[in-house]
Amino acid sequence: MTPDPISAGPVPGRRLGVLISGRGSNLQALIDAVADRRLDATIAVVISNREDAAGLERARRAGIETICLSHRGWPSRDDYDRALVKELQQRGVNLVCLAGFMRVFSSVMIEAYPNRIVNIHPSLLPSFPGIDAQRQAFEHGVKFAGVTVHIVTNDLDAGPIILQRVVPVLDTDTVDTLSQRILAEEHHAYVDAVRILLEEPWAVEGRRFVRLERAAEVSTAQPRAGN
Ligand code: GRF
Repeated sequence: MTPDPISAGPVPGRRLGVLISGRGSNLQALIDAVADRRLDATIAVVISNREDAAGLERARRAGIETICLSHRGWPSRDDYDRALVKELQQRGVNLVCLAGFMRVFSSVMIEAYPNRIVNIHPSLLPSFPGIDAQRQAFEHGVKFAGVTVHIVTNDLDAGPIILQRVVPVLDTDTVDTLSQRILAEEHHAYVDAVRILLEEPWAVEGRRFVRLERAAEVSTAQPRAGN
């Protein structure tokens, strides 16, 4: 069965819109990957909901258009999202990358970019969604923390998982040292996930994000008995 185009990739176009609220180190990882040609894409615009986001300066330094669109003063979440969608669509954005964007979307945004919004979260979801994920994991006492890159749906931190990377928790760790190692892993994971979305055939099947070339390799390598 051919998946419907909305639930399948590669994403038809390589213009990224990156949404931030703060530091922007994941944005920087994307900027660097584009500059080094590890990622064949264009960052069309960086939008922050906060004027003081340090990431805005990173974008300006790289010559990328920036927009500050404060979330304050809008009659509703839908109205804010409509303004965001307008800015993104005007710039021909095909894929929206959340990089520390501290806002929850209404269905306006999700419906404008179905399976075309991606987020990075500093835990192995579905464990430790929401804020302060690294501290949640550390205080829970897990032995393996990590990173998840997932498609954004209406449910917070719960969309189909594109990839995950494991970061072991050391006995000598503090929340800070663990967070630093997770962040270093995030920077690789985000670039890899965006590359998969832009370059590989994939499909969302229920909750599962499936890389179709890999699925094909496995099915030819291991034919089932009786087939
Ligand atoms: C990262 O830990 C990311 O996983 C989470 O927010 C943080 C953003 O960091 N969603 P930065 O702004 O990219 O440095």
